[in-house]
Amino acid sequence: MQVPRLELRNLTRRFGGRNVVEDVTLSVAPGQVTCLLGPSGCGKSTTLRIVAGVDRQDSGVVLVDGVPVSDGRHHTPPEARGIGLMFQDFALFPHLSVADNIAFGLTGTKADKARRVAELLERVNLLTFGEKYPHELSGGEQQRVALARALAPRPRVMLMDEPFSGLDERLRDGIRDATLDLLKEAGTAVLLVTHEPDEAMRMADEIALMRAGRVVQQGAPYNIYNNPADLAAAAFFSDVNVICGQVQGALTRTPFGKFLTPGLPDGSMVDIAIRPQHLKIDFDRAGRGPNPTPQDGQAARGVVQRARYMGRESLVEFRMDFDGSILRATVPGVFLPRAGTTLWLMLRRDRCFVFPTCRQAAE
Ligand SMILES: Nc1ncnc2c1ncn2[C@@H]1O[C@H](COP(=O)(O)OP(=O)(O)OP(=O)(O)O)[C@@H](O)[C@H]1O
Ligand SMILES: [Mg+2]
Repeated sequence: MQVPRLELRNLTRRFGGRNVVEDVTLSVAPGQVTCLLGPSGCGKSTTLRIVAGVDRQDSGVVLVDGVPVSDGRHHTPPEARGIGLMFQDFALFPHLSVADNIAFGLTGTKADKARRVAELLERVNLLTFGEKYPHELSGGEQQRVALARALAPRPRVMLMDEPFSGLDERLRDGIRDATLDLLKEAGTAVLLVTHEPDEAMRMADEIALMRAGRVVQQGAPYNIYNNPADLAAAAFFSDVNVICGQVQGALTRTPFGKFLTPGLPDGSMVDIAIRPQHLKIDFDRAGRGPNPTPQDGQAARGVVQRARYMGRESLVEFRMDFDGSILRATVPGVFLPRAGTTLWLMLRRDRCFVFPTCRQAAE
């Protein structure tokens, strides 16, 4: 098996008696991008700082190419770890030209450095910018210089902490993609911190979803989105509808008929979560509801409470006849039923997530 370029084993960091990072284990292969994703304060930056070597763990090990750079006894200084850093508040040296900023961390002859700088300027599309000074550049151009500077010494590992959050949306997509291409091409392992699910989905080969210092789920974006570990993990990526029910004989009653909820004792409570885009409004057999199918189960009737046009789609909120619960559906295109309209809804059973009710998540 290939040795991971970067490996974190059971990292724990305590501040004031609280585990801010707790037992975090993950590995990143060369050319792979792993996103640490989670809400504010969950320990993402602390994890990154430990890997960078500017903070120390209370226990656990950091390895680069299989060699420990930080364990209980020995800590390689940050500059000797082969790790590049790119943070949100990256600072270029204002008194150095673009070329000198990029050359800053390089060793070797003057000619070697000049060659490497030219190569990087070309890669970040700033070939003619070498003699300019940071204050003469736009935000996006400065960001590309910071990227070139971080890449110049060919780090084996790149740590990025919300590096694109200062950029406007249009600029961000382009820079994000160009950055990824460069890093992948160089075989760099990337650990990228973000609290935005969209950014993680877009950038990551693998997502490590963090909550309160722990990694609660780890996997490819597709798996995390479509097979979330718990209700909070499902709700982190999109709005979700939650249908609450009680198990009787491995079945739970819902507005959409009985759901199989096996493996749970009679009387226990379950949450059935469904994303709004997986609720469908039936237009074909208005009033009567569609024929039940094994995949979609039976239809349920609801009254439109409100409908909002969102551009590409519309968000329609229903009060269900069955139990008065509220469900939200997103429908593509312009479809704005009036409040008070009765409609039939179907849901994609294969897109529902069933979780035993967890008090904390339900609060
Ligand atoms: N040096 C410190 N001393 C005490 N507490 C700290 C220290 N550094 C971080 N913390 C605490 O550790 C927790 C995690 O902080 P961290 O910066 O890792 O969060 P984060 O996931 O990066 O959040 P954000 O998305 O807001 O940047 C926070 O509650 C923070 O207050
Ligand atoms: Mg942070």
